[in-house]
Amino acid sequence: MLLIQSRSRHHIRSSEITEPRLYLDRRRFLGAATGLLAAASLPAALLYPEVGRAARRLPPFTRSQRYTTDEALTDYEDITHYNNFYEFSTDKEEVAERARHFRTEPWSVVIDGEVEKPGRYHLEDLLRPHALEERIYRLRCVEAWSMVIPWVGFPLADLIKRFRPTSRAKYVEFTTLYDPEQMPGQRRNILDWPYVEGLRMDEAMHPLTILAVGLYGRVLPNQNGAPLRLVVPWKYGFKNIKSIVRIRFVEHQPVTTWMKASPREYGFYANVNPEVDHPRWSQARERRIGEFFKRKTLMFNGYGEEVAHLYAGMDLRRFF
Ligand code: MTE
Repeated sequence: MLLIQSRSRHHIRSSEITEPRLYLDRRRFLGAATGLLAAASLPAALLYPEVGRAARRLPPFTRSQRYTTDEALTDYEDITHYNNFYEFSTDKEEVAERARHFRTEPWSVVIDGEVEKPGRYHLEDLLRPHALEERIYRLRCVEAWSMVIPWVGFPLADLIKRFRPTSRAKYVEFTTLYDPEQMPGQRRNILDWPYVEGLRMDEAMHPLTILAVGLYGRVLPNQNGAPLRLVVPWKYGFKNIKSIVRIRFVEHQPVTTWMKASPREYGFYANVNPEVDHPRWSQARERRIGEFFKRKTLMFNGYGEEVAHLYAGMDLRRFF
């Protein structure tokens, strides 16, 4: 993420790649849609005509009234062509192309560790009981840029309750697929593969934490972590592990990939915190992708009311 500077990026707005006839003013349209059709399941093509027809459809989903924002959404083109996914490339603008032929079907996820119902589950079976919801979240990358993304997913807590962790389960560890044949980045030792992330159990159970299967009303593009990725909006982007194949319940705090790579720079908690700088740069401000002027970074990425209590009494400089 941080080792290599990306080249200057092209900038295509989604309006430029969409038939003008199909393009609607998104905010005006969303406003109307929220008012009239909030709880209805809408076809994505109606919600986001600019996404185009090529992307695969998701099962029906509802739009969250609670987890939304009136901030402008980041363009689909930017969300899908400015990616951190080191398994494919360290160049953010190259990930989409390199991940184009990544096979996400069939896909299974191993659930194991301190849990009553361990096993290997086909993705479809894993997802079937869960109602999908669209939630608009800010994503703040540790590299000091941010986006606003309409995810489609479901609360991780629902999945956790279903598999019933034992009382010894204090943390959840997530692992990305290891497949160097498909993932060229894994043929180089830039990180200790496979990518591993973790959450404390109360963070994993928090209602803001979701597993995402789509964005902009469509199936998650490969470059964004298809077919299943984590989204924890109050933490730096690197916690949002992509293309998950294992969810393990553990007693001890997992050692995550970025902690291994550079423990001084990347802590386990990785809560967005404008007051604690990265050793090599300030975290006080951020560049919202698509905007020119920087904006102030908010404590817990603006989700403090909901999550600050999780860290009451903790020294956030020490537990960064
Ligand atoms: N997951 C895996 N497996 N590999 C990665 O390199 N990068 C992380 C995170 N998840 C990464 C990952 C980082 S640094 C960020 S900012 C987000 O993914 C970016 O997600 P996006 O490309 O969907 O915006």
